[in-house]
Amino acid sequence: MSAKIIDGKEIAAAVKAKAAAGAERCRAAGRAPCLAVIIVGEDPASKVYVRNKKRACEACGITSLEYALPADTAQAALLALIEELNADDDVDGILCQLPLPGQIAEDAVTGAILPEKDVDGFHLVNVGKMLSGKDCFLPCTPAGVIEMLKYEKIPIAGKHAVVVGRSNIVGKPAAALLLKENATVTVCHSRTANLAEITRQADILVAAVGRPGFITADMLSPGCAVIDVGINRLSDGSLAGDVDFAAAKEIAGFITPVPGGVGPMTIAMLMKNTVKSCKLRLGIE
Ligand code: GUN
Repeated sequence: MSAKIIDGKEIAAAVKAKAAAGAERCRAAGRAPCLAVIIVGEDPASKVYVRNKKRACEACGITSLEYALPADTAQAALLALIEELNADDDVDGILCQLPLPGQIAEDAVTGAILPEKDVDGFHLVNVGKMLSGKDCFLPCTPAGVIEMLKYEKIPIAGKHAVVVGRSNIVGKPAAALLLKENATVTVCHSRTANLAEITRQADILVAAVGRPGFITADMLSPGCAVIDVGINRLSDGSLAGDVDFAAAKEIAGFITPVPGGVGPMTIAMLMKNTVKSCKLRLGIE
């Protein structure tokens, strides 16, 4: 039997429609939500992401401000811009696209953004709140993973969720959010022994490794849900996930494609976070 292919575009559209309705309520209460996006340098993938974020803002009725800074921007200049945006009452969300050029410390930048405007959920205050189960801005990609599972009514509580990858942006927060949903969570990484033995026990497998085709069909248990967070550019220019999709879809019960799976969810969750911030700041609902 072939897996149900989870349509990330459909789920992202549903999340964005809700965000657009929220943005409308903000406008009725005074002003549209506003997201400031900073990009430093010319990284081609980052440019595509930033362009897509701007388009999503337009589609949702969110004002977007773009700050494109040269690759040789000094850290102090970037921090000064963030301070300005922190102090601007009309700005609800601030996002600095990663990765940053070598002269700028990512920690300094994510730590400079006011936690109340940190729609990426990268500030340590928000990381701490997330780990303690408090209300906060959740990091967009892992929050999108949970949203997809819930949309598809895939049970999480009591299930074994295996996360492969332990990055600060995806693996670790995905594990924390699955735990909050009462899954039994195992985090695997490059030093894990007997990886396939563990992944074969997964009811839910989240792949966030950054290596194309790393998760093969023999590593899956029949009927499991496979969420592929990998976005890998192949030498022919095409995109591939971390999962061997063609073979895995014959074993899994649910699977996300790449592209068209988790990718569209990240931006949709950013829209959701920006509207949430604006509502909080306007004191509505
Ligand atoms: N680079 C890759 N993913 C992300 C993300 O979610 N947020 C930011 N700011 N940069 C990224």
